[in-house]
Amino acid sequence: MKGEMLFIMLLCLAATAHCYPTYRESNSTYMGKRKEFLADEANLVIGSSLVLNEKEQKVNEILLKAKEREFSRGFKRTFPPAVNFLKGKPLVENSTVFQIIKRMPKGGILHIHEVSMANASWVVKNITYLPHLFYCVKNDYYSSLRFNFSTTPLTQSPPDCVTDWVSVASARAQMGADIFDQILHHNITMAAQNPDVAYPNITMSWMRFALALSPLTDLFFTTSAFRLFMWHSLERMVQDNVQYVEIRTLLKPLQYLNGTKSSQEHTLQEYIRVLKDFTDQYPNDFVGGKIISSSLRYPLNKTLVRDQVYLGMDFRKKYPEFFAGYDLVGEEDSGGPLIDYIDELLIPTKLGMDLPYFFHAGETDWEGEFVDKNLIDAVLLNTSRIGHGYAIGKHPVVMETIKSKGVAIEINPISNQVLHLVHDIRDHVGASLIADDYPVIISSDDPGAWEALPLSHDFYMAFMGMAGETTGLKLLKQLALNTIKYSAMAKAEQTTAMALWQAKWDKFVTEMVAEYSNEKRLHDELNSVDAQKRPDNKYSN
Ligand SMILES: *[C@@H]1O[C@H](CO)[C@@H](O)[C@H](O)[C@H]1NC(C)=O
Ligand SMILES: *[C@@H]1O[C@H](CO)[C@@H](O)[C@H](O)[C@H]1NC(C)=O
Ligand SMILES: *[C@@H]1O[C@H](CO)[C@@H](O)[C@H](O)[C@H]1NC(C)=O
Ligand SMILES: *[C@@H]1O[C@H](CO)[C@@H](O)[C@H](O)[C@H]1NC(C)=O
Ligand SMILES: *[C@@H]1O[C@H](CO)[C@@H](O)[C@H](O)[C@H]1NC(C)=O
Ligand SMILES: *[C@@H]1O[C@H](CO)[C@@H](O)[C@H](O)[C@H]1NC(C)=O
Ligand SMILES: *[C@@H]1O[C@H](CO)[C@@H](O)[C@H](O)[C@H]1NC(C)=O
Ligand SMILES: *[C@@H]1O[C@H](CO)[C@@H](O)[C@H](O)[C@H]1NC(C)=O
Ligand SMILES: *[C@@H]1O[C@H](CO)[C@@H](O)[C@H](O)[C@H]1NC(C)=O
Ligand SMILES: *[C@@H]1O[C@H](CO)[C@@H](O)[C@H](O)[C@H]1NC(C)=O
Ligand SMILES: [Zn+2]
Repeated sequence: MKGEMLFIMLLCLAATAHCYPTYRESNSTYMGKRKEFLADEANLVIGSSLVLNEKEQKVNEILLKAKEREFSRGFKRTFPPAVNFLKGKPLVENSTVFQIIKRMPKGGILHIHEVSMANASWVVKNITYLPHLFYCVKNDYYSSLRFNFSTTPLTQSPPDCVTDWVSVASARAQMGADIFDQILHHNITMAAQNPDVAYPNITMSWMRFALALSPLTDLFFTTSAFRLFMWHSLERMVQDNVQYVEIRTLLKPLQYLNGTKSSQEHTLQEYIRVLKDFTDQYPNDFVGGKIISSSLRYPLNKTLVRDQVYLGMDFRKKYPEFFAGYDLVGEEDSGGPLIDYIDELLIPTKLGMDLPYFFHAGETDWEGEFVDKNLIDAVLLNTSRIGHGYAIGKHPVVMETIKSKGVAIEINPISNQVLHLVHDIRDHVGASLIADDYPVIISSDDPGAWEALPLSHDFYMAFMGMAGETTGLKLLKQLALNTIKYSAMAKAEQTTAMALWQAKWDKFVTEMVAEYSNEKRLHDELNSVDAQKRPDNKYSN
């Protein structure tokens, strides 16, 4: 080898003109290797091992045609995954890819929080029109709101309010319903004209986020609103072609109109009741749901976590079909890392009791800080899945472990963007995880806060922003299948869910072929979104 190199170098010195092209291998050998290399990579993408039937192949063609045109448009103008969703949502609504994804049965939502499942307009128009509702304005940066349902006269507002309790109905009458409802709407979402100015950093976006959720929490955990909230949220899921849900919840006691509070167990029973009733009413659309109890990790409160761990073990025994496990939630950067609660979190192991964990971990940009180590603790505590796992690219051993053990990462693309971890979704670690067949599911975290659909917008962002132009229906299909595979459902439940999903999938595929095989429709839709092409890339395959 050494001699050969020397020989070539001498040859180059002798005749400088033609030495480079003949250096190692012929052009055709090189191009062959290149082709193989590209194929090797394509064969690693999530879903690449699926075999599509004839109809699915047709849908794949339609989808890829649309994706290509939308990439071209993005290249020339704006690419929706690169724009803060609070501003870029209208761009998404115009996309043919999005229209197809909306129609697609997507399986389950495995990472979503109870109070942000509802549509904000619906909350304003329906929940805040219920009788006996009061509000006060808080003494915080955004003058956010507190709510309280009460039939007993409310004398003193809480210390964090700067106003007295005011009747919502009379304030609405006084101010005019349009204006008043707009103010309420603004209070319970993160909507902003220019989100990059309104929330210039992670501190501001999390502050606004928390203050939008807080009044919703006041409304949600009441006997007046709980069932309405839940029913509406589940209906939205069905409308968005979602078949199953696992809900992260603070599991607070419900407050009655007279101010009495029930128990956490009662709240769990109410969840179970509404999930059962809903599934009975929509047997062909929905297979059910489970509850993941979640405590706020910050401010630090070991007593709380200890109590909740014991309660969790109890609920696992009493309600095994519905109670899936436990999690800690809230801004990770603020504190309350898993290691601070290690004694409490090891209780089930020590007692030999069952309490699956579903930890949020690695929702941070701060490598090497205490918060960054949540990923390691989550894995060591045998978490069933990891919420976000955004920092995972910096932890190769964690990556290896989740792949070998099949611990799914719950990626919430829009949440990570709006809450300031990543600006352009193409820069998200999820792109690498998808490219290399890691166990991944796509979810939506808090769609209500940024006015997204329960799952479709996030599926769109993952498909467009975390997977290449030539990655098509196989990825979408596998992402849907993964939501069943990595769910907390028992084997028999998964079989039922698969059957329901498969029937919907077949129907979806048939409908797409019928609707788009009229080439004119696809052509018109694509042209309407300015499909000027990039310079041709003749080596693309
Ligand atoms: C090498 O092969 C590529 C692809 O077939 C071709 O476009 C290119 O012109 C070739 N280059 C040479 C120096 O033959
Ligand atoms: C919610 O409010 C709207 C507007 O007032 C009304 O049309 C709708 O029927 C209400 N929905 C429910 C479930 O109460
Ligand atoms: C919330 O409502 C209060 C009371 O009307 C208002 O002063 C405040 O500006 C609103 N905050 C947001 C963030 O919309
Ligand atoms: C975040 O932005 C706010 C508002 O501009 C500013 O007051 C604050 O200092 C910033 N915080 C950090 C950590 O950059
Ligand atoms: C409050 O209402 C609930 C439900 O109607 C009832 O069970 C409870 O006894 C009442 N509490 C008081 C103090 O009246
Ligand atoms: C809400 O109203 C009830 C009375 O019905 C009262 O017991 C409770 O303290 C009020 N909540 C707050 C935060 O003031
Ligand atoms: C911690 O949680 C417990 C149980 O929920 C509660 O009683 C206590 O007030 C909390 N302590 C602090 C300091 O917040
Ligand atoms: C996690 O699982 C492994 C393998 O089953 C076991 O050895 C270990 O004790 C478990 N860890 C905890 C904290 O339960
Ligand atoms: C929320 O509901 C309103 C009123 O029905 C509707 O216009 C809007 O599109 C809905 N938004 C989402 C994200 O579902
Ligand atoms: C959506 O497409 C229509 C034309 O098809 C165009 O007029 C409109 O401006 C587009 N909207 C956005 C937000 O791109
Ligand atoms: Zn979350």
